[in-house]
Amino acid sequence: MHRMDRTSLYVVAAACVCSAVGGALTQANGQAAAPALDYQFFKEKVQAVFLAKRPGHTRCLACHSINNVPFHLVQLSPGATTWNEEQSRQNFQLIQKVVTPGYEDSRLLKHPLAEEAGGDPRHNGGQQFASKNDPDWQTLRAWVMSAK
Ligand code: HEC
Repeated sequence: MHRMDRTSLYVVAAACVCSAVGGALTQANGQAAAPALDYQFFKEKVQAVFLAKRPGHTRCLACHSINNVPFHLVQLSPGATTWNEEQSRQNFQLIQKVVTPGYEDSRLLKHPLAEEAGGDPRHNGGQQFASKNDPDWQTLRAWVMSAK
């Protein structure tokens, strides 16, 4: 009985994931071919965006390493200015919650972007990117969209 319940839960979860990306996932020989995000690019370029201080704004890291929302980052070790390898790997896993590979409307891209530029109307952390031309936003976008 317990077993059956778990199995049907997994089936439901899988169905939700598929419909959430609007059928973007393709099936090949019964295996889902989900596009994969690039870890090296994330580690070297994307994480720097979360560490950067933007005028008039608090760093992403300051809130998202302590608050309890879907976008979560690991706290830096005392005295460290960036994440070590293990922490970067953890961040890479955690961020998958707000990124749909290859999808420009991913939470990560839309939420901190100014509403006038196509972003969400409200983000507690502010409209950190005034436009899609912001180089840091471009970095985030390049990472999400280059998933293959
Ligand atoms: C002052 C604190 C603060 C800062 C700085 C901040 N955020 Fe947030 N962020 C929040 C809070 C609180 C929420 C949840 C409530 C909301 O949606 O506003 C949130 C929500 C989010 C979400 C949505 C998660 C979801 O799916 O619900 C994303 C993505 C996000 N932030 C990205 C960022 C990025 C990227 C930065 C830096 C460029 C940033 N935030 C800076 C406080 C902050």
